[in-house]
Amino acid sequence: MTAQYQVQDGVAVITLDNPPVNGLGHSTRLGIVEGMTRALDDEAVKAIVITGAGKAFSGGADIREFNTPKATQEPTLHSVIKVVEGSTKPVVAAIHTVAMGGGLELALGCNYRVAAKGAQIALPEVKLGILPGAGGTQRLPRVIGLEAALNMIVSGTAVPSEKLAGTKLFDEVVEGDVLPAAIQFAKNAGNAAGPHPKVRDLKVRHENADGFLAFARNTVSAVAKNFPAPLKCVEAVAASLKSFDEGLKIERAGFMELVTTPESRALRHAFFGERAASKIPDVPSDTPVRKIEKVAVIGAGTMGGGISMNFLNAGIPVIVLETKQEALDRGVATIRRNYENSAKKGKLTAEKVEQRMGLLSTTLSYDEIKDADLVIEAVFEEMGVKETVFKKLDEVMKPGAILASNTSTLDVNKIASFTKRPQDVVGMHFFSPANVMKLLEVVRGEKTGKDVLATVMQVAKKIKKTAVVSGVCDGFIGNRMIEQYSRQAGYLLDEGALPEQVDKAIEKFGFAMGPFRMGDLAGNDIGWAIRKRRAVDKPDIQYSKTADLLCELGRFGQKTGAGWYDYKPGDRKPYPNQQVNDMIVQHSKDLGITRRKISDEEIVERLVYALVNEGAKILEEGIASKASDIDMVYLTGYGFPIFRGGPMLYADQVGLYNVALAMSRYAKGYHGEAWQPAPLLTKLAAEGKGFNG
Ligand code: 3HC
Ligand code: NAI
Repeated sequence: MTAQYQVQDGVAVITLDNPPVNGLGHSTRLGIVEGMTRALDDEAVKAIVITGAGKAFSGGADIREFNTPKATQEPTLHSVIKVVEGSTKPVVAAIHTVAMGGGLELALGCNYRVAAKGAQIALPEVKLGILPGAGGTQRLPRVIGLEAALNMIVSGTAVPSEKLAGTKLFDEVVEGDVLPAAIQFAKNAGNAAGPHPKVRDLKVRHENADGFLAFARNTVSAVAKNFPAPLKCVEAVAASLKSFDEGLKIERAGFMELVTTPESRALRHAFFGERAASKIPDVPSDTPVRKIEKVAVIGAGTMGGGISMNFLNAGIPVIVLETKQEALDRGVATIRRNYENSAKKGKLTAEKVEQRMGLLSTTLSYDEIKDADLVIEAVFEEMGVKETVFKKLDEVMKPGAILASNTSTLDVNKIASFTKRPQDVVGMHFFSPANVMKLLEVVRGEKTGKDVLATVMQVAKKIKKTAVVSGVCDGFIGNRMIEQYSRQAGYLLDEGALPEQVDKAIEKFGFAMGPFRMGDLAGNDIGWAIRKRRAVDKPDIQYSKTADLLCELGRFGQKTGAGWYDYKPGDRKPYPNQQVNDMIVQHSKDLGITRRKISDEEIVERLVYALVNEGAKILEEGIASKASDIDMVYLTGYGFPIFRGGPMLYADQVGLYNVALAMSRYAKGYHGEAWQPAPLLTKLAAEGKGFNG
């Protein structure tokens, strides 16, 4: 049982004790009911306090139990709250640190609530694709009002307890340790004559409820198109105007409907995936980490500047090294401009801009960076240049410094071999713009030390990145997969589609941007240069030639005002171009292909399954240690729709058997060789299993 029971001065204290956040799993629920029973049976007990051990009152229902028999095993949270609410002795919730979801719902079932200042209060269920299912949508409006409750429930945002002081949610908000204050409160309540208040007995009033709810419905429908939960939250909160029991029924029905939706499964997968990504199977969580107090960045170009900003934002001093003063000046000016733009938008104060710039220094000499704890190289993507830099770093850097490369395609093992300390070398693959994008691929070389990995994962957290570990391979996890996706996009053009159709189909599926708009944004010349290099290194790899033909026309994308689409100055909207479309049609003719009408469904399947198949190979080779890591790469770095949970979870939800079947169909078509299935995919499909267990 994961709840403790103690009696102090005639007050029974039930302490939820289910680390890490006192999730209300089955054994904790049992513990609360048992504690309540003991307290009610004990004549010496006059009042009851419910609190949480460690770093939370409660983070809510135990998400790990969702869709398992334990979730519905009695006592459910409903039954627990019924026992608490039906208590003949006053029950006080002693809230500290975090009261979220079911945790807050449990507190709302108590007669009184005493909170510590600074405690984070939320009903964040909507972020997991569900709604508060244990009375939260009915009780919260009764204590803080319809509008405030609706805002909290639809956004899922946490509010500090002191902001809610003065509402009926809290009877007291106290400084410091909440438990003694709650015990004192309970003692007084125990001595007072009943009956003690119940939130369910309060009424929700609003002078224009219909108007407010109509506005809420319209707004929520417009902004949450692919997410069913927010609108259901509005409906449940609206039901708080009815009788308590009627409202509870509507809440229950909404909860049961949402908890089995693919969107909810996807959002929960992303929640746990993000936390799981920081766990590396063979690197124990107590691995000692190195101290990172000063960072050096080599190269002040596009990436070097963005990378530096991450550390400056986190209050870590950065020194940037370049070969020429002009490059340094340019780099520093760009960083300043970025900060000043944020200040103009009101996101940063002028003082903060100066504070951050004050942490930045520059140099042309390696001598001045030698005492940095972490150095990140972001110079040109050429092995020769990397070799010069890493040999120099090996020569000058203090022992124990971590030497990282931001390379996007080069072999990190080879880079490590330029030094006599390969255990200290690691890839830190940031994504552009590096100060904005959440994803960081941490590339683990054959010899990278475990403490180096543990340190880099910790640093990533400090600079607010989602770090995913990748083994060494061409393109690591993300770019290796996107290559297969881009290849299919090109073949679709050869066979009969046009860029606009492909982009629209995949954007409708939920991608932030289709492959051709993405190419225009990133610069089509980058892929062109890679393909030219590959034509020498790996001449067997096949691509559609359309992208090369486009580049031969000088259409590199937004930066030249023309790519797959035309762009007008100051306008990022893509306008289809007839010349490009004619070029695509002519290319099909030259290949002897009779163009056909391709359905949007085929477009989506081919693009997404190309990712899935490569993802399966990456998993099988151990480049990624778990499927959810691949999903995190796609959710945080490539605009994959979060409500689908990432390519691997999406494939699981479609069913690997169905994915494999579609792939075998495509294998009989144009460039069918690209559909050689990953053995892991074939195996799991045959066994009726998924990538995520
Ligand atoms: N159930 C199970 N595990 C949970 C959990 C929950 N509700 N909330 C957090 N955890 C776990 C995390 O997975 C993580 O585990 P790990 O250490 O093994 O990786 C650990 O707790 C710590 O989590 P964080 O890294 O997020 O720690 P923080 O201190 O940064 O944040 C938190 C703590 C604010 C509680 C944050 O974890 C959070 O927002 N949790 C989600 C809360 C939530 O959504 N609650 C609603 C649940 S649904 C519900 O209650 C339904 C009800 O209405 C019926
Ligand atoms: P960039 O061309 O904008 O910047 C490179 C900078 O390195 C230039 O300022 C140059 O003067 C400097 N430099 C070159 N040789 C140097 C040396 N020997 N010592 C010190 N400085 C030197 O290039 P970008 O885009 O910033 O790329 C840098 C690295 O980051 C490359 O390895 C690239 O593959 C990688 N990368 C790039 C991404 C992008 O979207 N641009 C995304 C992820 C990684």
